[in-house]
Amino acid sequence: MTNMRTTVTVPATSANLGPGFDTLGMAVSLHNRFTITEIDGENQITVRGHGDGLLPNDETNLVYCAAERVFRAVGYRPVGIRIDIENRIPVESGLGSSSTAIVGGMMAANVLAGSPMSQLDLLDFANEMEGHPDNVTPAIFGGITVSAVHQGQAIHYPLNLAQPFKVAIVLPQYRLNTKEARAALPSMIPFKDAVFNVSRIALLIRALETGDYEMLAVAMNDQLHQPYRFKLVPGLEYACHAVRNAGAAGVAISGSGPGIVIFSPDNHDALIRTASLSFGQAGLTCQSWILDLDTKGATVEMTVAG
Ligand code: HSE
Repeated sequence: MTNMRTTVTVPATSANLGPGFDTLGMAVSLHNRFTITEIDGENQITVRGHGDGLLPNDETNLVYCAAERVFRAVGYRPVGIRIDIENRIPVESGLGSSSTAIVGGMMAANVLAGSPMSQLDLLDFANEMEGHPDNVTPAIFGGITVSAVHQGQAIHYPLNLAQPFKVAIVLPQYRLNTKEARAALPSMIPFKDAVFNVSRIALLIRALETGDYEMLAVAMNDQLHQPYRFKLVPGLEYACHAVRNAGAAGVAISGSGPGIVIFSPDNHDALIRTASLSFGQAGLTCQSWILDLDTKGATVEMTVAG
């Protein structure tokens, strides 16, 4: 019997971009790879790179659960599957590693089943599993995307960017998961804070599309979630202030943190040093990257496993 193998490469994503809570997301040039091979024996899961020894390698693994959802929905049942996970994106970093697992598992399963689901079907499935669409949309489609959920369906569009750009990411070594970071948010916010965010997100979309860093400096500010999340990570608020004072056009908590994303036309290395120094004063060491925008989104390769 011929067994098929599919590899899906999925970009890291930085969600929110300041005011665009659960709405804006950007794919960047750091990737996880998920290979699913149909096998004749029992299911197997291996994790290499980030999350090795931390992520489960049984049927509670997120990639497995995502693949299973698609197999169940489309009525496809391989005898067994082997999942090989190669993670270059740190887990619980604010860089969308769980979205890569969901998108990777779902897209690989769909291809093995003969691609009965469209990318829009997969987006709905992924959004349902993740609980919000802002990471999974750019993980699938690439670029910077706006997403909303309307009557249970994810609606999205890509920003039309005038020019490519780079961002710097600084990740302090601190454990914070999305569940905790969402639990820190209030159930009500003052009306003036809502108005603040409505105006900032409108400006931010224009600033990103036109590459207007002066407008971005005004737009990349938030009153909905960041003020409540700053206190969750030592040095986070101070690092964001320091980076702005050092000349960054914009800085935001990446997703739910603890990483931060820095927008600037140049000087990325110096801004990384400033942020790392600030976290260092709070006792945290950092990892950092200068990354391009990923414009491709998730890509799929299909081979015969033998
Ligand atoms: N929009 C989400 C949040 C992203 O901020 O909680 C988390 O990955």
